[in-house]
Amino acid sequence: MSVFQDLKKYKGLLAIVFFLTLGNTIGELYLPRLLSLIVDNGIAVEDVQYVLKIGGFMLIVTLLTIIVRGSASFFSAKAAMAFSRDLRKRIFNKVNHMTFDETETLGISSLITRTTNDVGHIEQFVLLMMRPILRAPLQFVGGLVMAYLTHRRLTAIVLISMPIIFVLIYFVIRVVIPFFPQLQKALDRVNLLLRQRLTGLKVVRAFSRDEEEEATFDQANNQYYQLSTRINNTMSTVQPILAFVVSVTTVIAVYFGAKFIVDGTMNIGELMAFIQYTAQVMTGLVMMSRMLTIIPRTSTSISRVKEVIDYPSRKVGGTTRLNESMYAIEAKDLTFYYPGANLPALSKINFSLKAGEVLGIIGGTGSGKSTFLKLLMQFYEPTEGDLLINGIPINEINTDDVRKRLSYVPQQNFFFSESVRGNMQYSNPDITDENIIEDLTVAKAREFLPNDNPLDSKVVRGGANFSGGQRQRLAITRALARDANVYIFDDSFSALDYRTDYEIRQALEDRLEGVMTIIVAQRVATIRHADKILVLEDGEVKGYGSHDDLLAHNPVYREIALSQGEEEVSTDESKA
Ligand SMILES: Nc1ncnc2c1ncn2[C@@H]1O[C@H](COP(=O)(O)OP(=O)(O)O)[C@@H](O)[C@H]1O
Ligand SMILES: [Mg+2]
Repeated sequence: MSVFQDLKKYKGLLAIVFFLTLGNTIGELYLPRLLSLIVDNGIAVEDVQYVLKIGGFMLIVTLLTIIVRGSASFFSAKAAMAFSRDLRKRIFNKVNHMTFDETETLGISSLITRTTNDVGHIEQFVLLMMRPILRAPLQFVGGLVMAYLTHRRLTAIVLISMPIIFVLIYFVIRVVIPFFPQLQKALDRVNLLLRQRLTGLKVVRAFSRDEEEEATFDQANNQYYQLSTRINNTMSTVQPILAFVVSVTTVIAVYFGAKFIVDGTMNIGELMAFIQYTAQVMTGLVMMSRMLTIIPRTSTSISRVKEVIDYPSRKVGGTTRLNESMYAIEAKDLTFYYPGANLPALSKINFSLKAGEVLGIIGGTGSGKSTFLKLLMQFYEPTEGDLLINGIPINEINTDDVRKRLSYVPQQNFFFSESVRGNMQYSNPDITDENIIEDLTVAKAREFLPNDNPLDSKVVRGGANFSGGQRQRLAITRALARDANVYIFDDSFSALDYRTDYEIRQALEDRLEGVMTIIVAQRVATIRHADKILVLEDGEVKGYGSHDDLLAHNPVYREIALSQGEEEVSTDESKA
């Protein structure tokens, strides 16, 4: 997809800018001609009538030119801003639909730089191009033609300086181009360090790494400074040299022009107009050089933005609509490899779950518990085997239809910096205050909120003003706030003491009657009442059944249970 595709929407504006710029340039090319007429046919022969007539006309042309120029600048700014707004939106929407891994691959800091700084460069480019792209060549060619019409031989003399300018611009651009990708990378790094420093504040402090952090940042910051200084130093040589060439050319024109006037082959007014035309030709050139020097910077930004909007996102989900509620989940030899991984994170998983049932998933860290949940939420698609929702393979079902029916408590909780109410409304915008209070009570979160206006209490910095266990309880409340068919708890009871864990599960049993519940845990106590328990180890199923079953017959499960001091009594008979 082209970065500039959104410009098409502003065809109307662009056409207006085009015609205004055309008018502007023609006006500017016409004025010197009028000047030469006044001087040669009016002042030289002392014809006051003529001077007043042409002078009045000049005034009108000048006014029109100014108006046309101002409006062109207004409309081009409008089109450029609208364009960059659309481009930012396009990047945001794309990033919004990326998976976590994809955002990590591109880099979060880099994505931020691309959406702000790089889009800014492209916007500047569009703005700088819109008018000059027409005006510069028009002024250059038009100025030459008018100069030629004014005096042929003088034009030939002036033309000699052109090649010098072209050669100069060519070399500067060649020197500068390779630095731009480096410059944007350096800016990415500055942002990355700042971002890491801000999010990892506690770790930095705890290990007292402040000074090292400062040194690292200093270095990155300096690198950015040096690169941009080098680029700007090189680029800034262009303008003064051009100005010098323009001045020298004018001197030459005046020198030879004076001779032609003495010879009688040129009038004074014509020389004045001629000088103005050379100035216009040079302005056209300067404009074109500026356009050329902005191209390398922009092309770097364009390719960085393009990388995001063209990023081949992994397809998840299909087109089949789910019209009824979710009543069955079944895994058949479900196998999954993370992209690029050699070993499966899940291999040949089998289980089935129906409405009203609770599935417990237990296993050590890295056994694939969260990975299974990611498949269920369609963050990834199964590599082999099937995950069936109501009997339909999950990769054929529309993503929204699946996610709408799930409610999820993530392993790592995140909250938005607003009130408790606002956070609960994130999962269900229509929820009433009474219902929030009810859910807070079920999740035992009501008790640590103030008595007055509990729903207005603030959650700050992702939830940092609450303890780990309190955050888990708020996250459970948020999941309950939504009316779903499947409630998923990913290790959501780990930071709770046994008593609270137990009480919340009791309350949940009543609250979640008739729907499917999936509880991931490392503690046997948390899942022992589940209808079915899946025991995972290194992505494989090591046991599947009820707590009593597994305890009696499954060595892996029994070992986990025993290591956690569970149920010495009921194991007696199996041991015998
Ligand atoms: N985004 C990822 N990319 C590659 N491998 C991953 C990713 N996330 C997890 N894994 C790997 O998959 C395995 C299972 O992880 P996970 O499902 O998170 O375990 P847990 O049972 O602790 O929730 C681990 O070995 C982990 O290294
Ligand atoms: Mg996990």
